[in-house]
Amino acid sequence: MDSILVRGNGALSGAIPIAGAKNACLTLMPATLLSDEPLTLTNAPRLSDIRTMTQLLQSLGAEVASLQDGLVLALSSHSITNHKADYDIVRKMRASILVLGPMLARYGHAVVSLPGGCAIGARPVDLHLKALEAMGADLDLRDGYVHAKAPGGRLKGAVVEFPFVSVGATENALMAATLAKGTTVLKNAAREPEIVDLARCLKKMGAKIDGEGTSMITIEGVDRLGGATHQVVTDRIELGTYMLVPAICGGEVECIGGTLDLVESFAAKLDAAGVSVTQTNRGLKVSRKNGRVRAVDVMTEPFPGFPTDLQAQMMALLCTADGVSVLEEKIFENRFMHAPELMRMGAKIDVHGGTAKVTGVEKLKGAPVMATDLRASVSLILAGLAAEGETVVSRVYHLDRGYERVEEKLRACGAHVERIAG
Ligand code: UD1
Repeated sequence: MDSILVRGNGALSGAIPIAGAKNACLTLMPATLLSDEPLTLTNAPRLSDIRTMTQLLQSLGAEVASLQDGLVLALSSHSITNHKADYDIVRKMRASILVLGPMLARYGHAVVSLPGGCAIGARPVDLHLKALEAMGADLDLRDGYVHAKAPGGRLKGAVVEFPFVSVGATENALMAATLAKGTTVLKNAAREPEIVDLARCLKKMGAKIDGEGTSMITIEGVDRLGGATHQVVTDRIELGTYMLVPAICGGEVECIGGTLDLVESFAAKLDAAGVSVTQTNRGLKVSRKNGRVRAVDVMTEPFPGFPTDLQAQMMALLCTADGVSVLEEKIFENRFMHAPELMRMGAKIDVHGGTAKVTGVEKLKGAPVMATDLRASVSLILAGLAAEGETVVSRVYHLDRGYERVEEKLRACGAHVERIAG
């Protein structure tokens, strides 16, 4: 398994191009299952999670061609031969459950393995299933699989009220509703930019959707959807991660393709910590306002709140801030696995349940550390950039699920980062 070696060496400056959003692409790709015409996605990120979704769709009989070095994905589902998403692929990635809604909507039946995914809490899929049940699906859970059928071969429009916000359940229900008979109203829907991006793509395919980006989405089902070409929205989590580079190390970094609307609550916290963020004509420019950053309190929430997917990286910053910060994780239980690793680097962190108290230290010290999940792994790299000496982050396969060419992007700003093949 590969490791990443980071040598902390002071201020970093340069420009970093931000890729298309992994989480948007992972829901746009299964949208191909809704139509027999081609779907072309541009600005796709080059990540192992995207390759996993490619494999999953291909296992169903979809054609997925990766063009222009992976930046363009040409998908077609004109000859789906298999309606079973197998455990062997689904277990690698929780987002695999997103094939369920579209397959059921278009074919009237589907069998999908229950997913595994990151080790960040229980992460059930009950809300996905309840939404589809409300739309008339008969669901049978046996042998680790969901066996789903739409009576009469077609889902029906319904009012679905989510008890709490779920990004994935909103996406699954939204896709399923596009081909259901009648109108579906999703209440307490997720408002993430990736949902808006999915709705925009579905509309290009002919779907009738209103209210995306608000907590109530209305979908009027149509009989068929066509093809489309769609550009994947910028990855706000990759954006936020690289915005932290000058915040944690000093220097000035311009994140190309970044826009403030994607990271408003995150940028507000950076501002409060003493980091300036300005929109330029090609992205977001970030630098510290003065010397050391100040402590700030952070609570994760659904969009437009502070994203849980930036919590680990923000913790890395706050480890060296002046004062005591309190981080509250409200979306996932058990999402502080990076804390003990940061402590190996000299950070002072007390974790109690979903709350972490971080007392800033002047300097972190390099150490061998282990990545436990995707966002944790990049938080350890950020900490390594700010630390004295060498940090070796092992088990970086998590990193490759969500960050393309990390070493290259950081090296372009003057960082000493190397991959050690293992
Ligand atoms: C998506 C993102 C992930 C991000 C998360 C929250 C993708 C591929 N992944 O994950 O990176 O961290 O949103 O912003 O887009 N829950 C249930 N039952 C369900 C569904 C969810 O209890 O049926 C719970 C989860 O365990 C979690 C919370 O709801 O505690 C929110 O999860 P959700 O928004 O569904 O996250 P994902 O869509 O899995």
